[in-house]
Amino acid sequence: MKRTQVAIVGAGPAGLLLGQLLHKEGIDTLILERRSAEYVANRIRAGVLEPGTVDVLERAGVASRLHAEGLIHDGVEIGFRGRRHRIDLKALTGKAVTVYGQTEVTRDLMNARASSGAPSVYEAEDVALHGLEGPTPRVTYWHQGAAHEVACDFIAGCDGFHGVSRRSIPASSLKIFERVYPFGWLGLLADVAPPWKELIYANSERGFALASMRSPTRVRCYLQCSLEDRVENWSDDQFWDEFRRRIGEEVGALVTGAPSIEKSIAPLRSFVVEPLRFGSLFLAGDAAHIVPPTGAKGLNLAVSDVLYLYEALRGYFRERSVRSLDEYSPRCLRRIWRAERFSWWMTRQLHRFSDDAFGTRMQQVELEYLFESPAAQAGMAENYVGLPFEPGS
Ligand code: APR
Ligand code: PHB
Repeated sequence: MKRTQVAIVGAGPAGLLLGQLLHKEGIDTLILERRSAEYVANRIRAGVLEPGTVDVLERAGVASRLHAEGLIHDGVEIGFRGRRHRIDLKALTGKAVTVYGQTEVTRDLMNARASSGAPSVYEAEDVALHGLEGPTPRVTYWHQGAAHEVACDFIAGCDGFHGVSRRSIPASSLKIFERVYPFGWLGLLADVAPPWKELIYANSERGFALASMRSPTRVRCYLQCSLEDRVENWSDDQFWDEFRRRIGEEVGALVTGAPSIEKSIAPLRSFVVEPLRFGSLFLAGDAAHIVPPTGAKGLNLAVSDVLYLYEALRGYFRERSVRSLDEYSPRCLRRIWRAERFSWWMTRQLHRFSDDAFGTRMQQVELEYLFESPAAQAGMAENYVGLPFEPGS
């Protein structure tokens, strides 16, 4: 039987970053990923990094391309009733966000993993976790037709919302909190220069729209859509027509309808599982929580979980500190719930919910208050750039 100190399930940003931080600390890991390396490297996801996330990526030694190519944004805009209102993140918090695609973060982490020589198994099938409550946890999987078994000290469940890790915990040991929203986001990626300088989150009568970007020559845009909608129902021209109507006249007039490189629909969900630990299994990232994408918190939250898990495991391997392991879940959950609240709040204020006259008025006063009150703007800005990390013990 093979042996490693930490078996990491999933090679998304959470699993790869944990592997990199632990490698730098001299702790052995094995990463097991269900998909192929090519699939993982090309997956399109969000792209706004909090300054705290950039710090952790720096610490992991994977931030040089991010610093060269990432776009620093000092503010974001909110469109409402035909006008755009700027939230000056820099003036309100002293901090800015970095626009750099999660696809690029993943590639940087995959390259770092490859150069470290630490092992990863892509296309690992039927990953199963065993002995989580005992002293000898194990992971089994199939690869290229052969069965494998790995003994370890700990298992990091970084395998996303649909992974096997959370499902390996008995239901009676978990509490689940969930909200599913009555709409989805239709996203489109296109190679064209963005005619906007900063991200625009627009609440229009026809529904939400987001103008984002990946680089000076690539845009990423989204439209609120119905959950029954299909990508096939939207030609590129139809997407751009609707986008122009929702994003506001001034910007809409500058939008050229470039052909899409990718189009997809994602549902919106808030989800948290408590606690994040079961015996020797620790959940991190999307395996433990989902936020709707409106606050751009998904990747950032995965990174703070991973930082905390890295510190907990380091405490154990350096000093046999069981306390640092015990603190992992409560420490993570405090930050997770704050990001859940902010993402839920952004989603609530910016989308159209059907037949809710009271809710629509509340949305209107909430947004008008935000545009008029520097105190309300400071609250939004502080959350958008990311709440501070809690110091470890
Ligand atoms: N066995 C092995 N690997 C698995 C399994 C399994 N049974 N199930 C899922 N995986 C892999 C997935 O293929 C994926 O590569 O686990 C990885 C999980 O990665 P992500 O879904 O990217 O999750 P995470 O690393 O937590 O990153 C969170 O990604 O989903 C976005 O919005 C989210 O931005 C956030 C970030
Ligand atoms: C993106 O660029 O994909 C993006 C940006 C901001 C969000 C969500 C997605 O809030």
